[in-house]
Amino acid sequence: MSMAVRSARFVLGGWRCPLLLLLLVLVATLVILHRVVQSPLLNQYEILHKHLEKTAASSASSSSSSSSSTRSILLWSEFFGDPRWKLSWDTLGPQELREELHCPVYQCEVTNQHDFLPAVELYDAVVFHAAEMFPLTLERVPAKRSQRQAYVFALMEPPGETKHRLDDEQGFYNLTMTYRLDSDVVWPYGQIVDIETGAVVAPSPNPSWRRPPGVVGGYNDTEVYDLWASKTKMAAWFVSHCETLSKREELAKRLQEYFQVDIYGKCGTLSCARGDPYCDEMLDTDYLFYLAFENSLCDDYVTEKLFDALRRNIVPVVFGGADYSRILPPHSYIDANRFETISDLALHMNFVGGDASEYASYFWWRRHYRLGSTSPFCELCARLHEPGFSHKSQSYNDIQAWWFNSCRLESNLKW
Ligand SMILES: *[C@@H]1O[C@H](CO)[C@@H](O)[C@H](O)[C@H]1NC(C)=O
Ligand SMILES: *[C@@H]1O[C@H](CO)[C@@H](O)[C@H](O)[C@H]1NC(C)=O
Repeated sequence: MSMAVRSARFVLGGWRCPLLLLLLVLVATLVILHRVVQSPLLNQYEILHKHLEKTAASSASSSSSSSSSTRSILLWSEFFGDPRWKLSWDTLGPQELREELHCPVYQCEVTNQHDFLPAVELYDAVVFHAAEMFPLTLERVPAKRSQRQAYVFALMEPPGETKHRLDDEQGFYNLTMTYRLDSDVVWPYGQIVDIETGAVVAPSPNPSWRRPPGVVGGYNDTEVYDLWASKTKMAAWFVSHCETLSKREELAKRLQEYFQVDIYGKCGTLSCARGDPYCDEMLDTDYLFYLAFENSLCDDYVTEKLFDALRRNIVPVVFGGADYSRILPPHSYIDANRFETISDLALHMNFVGGDASEYASYFWWRRHYRLGSTSPFCELCARLHEPGFSHKSQSYNDIQAWWFNSCRLESNLKW
């Protein structure tokens, strides 16, 4: 028998009344409870509260912007001679980001005014257009850099068009903002939005597409069906860069052995002024296929021309380095790289173009999807607001390898 129980018996011996005994137990319990609550080890709520207060205070004091919730983005260089990067103002605040760009996360300021904040190291992000020649060795880079700000590598052109010495810039950038789906901030030329849910389905590494219904009992677009009868020409190609890394010019030439391919622009015999509405209408009324051939074979790289074509009543024939299933709905295009030979491709185009129902089935997606667009600054803003962003440091030690390794010279197609 332990000392505690023995002494308890001794004490209890003097107390006969069970009511008083109950009172004693109650008081003891209260004393113990009070101790527990006061204990610094057990009062997690208090600790958490103090911790959160402290981190909020420290992040507010280290924050550059006027309000701790607003992030500031400086457009350091121009975008093809445009200091506004196609935005409507020199400086856009949260209101413009929300109302004009429709950003889901809009608590940011985007400016090209270098003196918008009193010092360049105060911006949360500094965006560089890596297709411009800005010599880093000269005074064209910020004079001061803070550890907590992100330098952004922004680019819409494929690697072949990067007029810039990237090997000088190893370890310079913290974030990438390009069309590539493995960029930190994805900057797509266009988006596919589900009409029913409003969700952006693509581009995405693994989109979940609805299944195309097939030709029989499938989607019969009367407009396309009617237009099909008037479409007497096979394929149109609009092109201004004649010799390319992808050798698309070769593919077009070889296709001309099978049917007529009308080449508009510098590299062909036909011309149609840019912006002339007739050029677009002719795609609806005259042509069965629109050639969307990319100048280089790079991961995820497709140009806006492809998205323009999807707005018309014409089937795009694509040739590029992208996995097009990450970008467009199935059965909405013909991918040249899916064929073994150019002759197989030509045969297939003849088959699709020769049958109204088959042709119209390529437009099934319009019942479920629409084209959308987004500003990359929305995603950049969201990125800067991600919890823990300011605590996580990253940089691209070999930006040139990251950028160039996404391209290849060979396509699947056998010439
Ligand atoms: C599609 O609709 C047209 C009339 O708009 C009709 O002539 C044609 O037979 C239909 N095709 C299919 C496969 O239902
Ligand atoms: C950005 O990269 C620089 C240089 O590598 C590094 O010192 C800095 O900590 C990085 N900042 C962020 C926010 O990742």
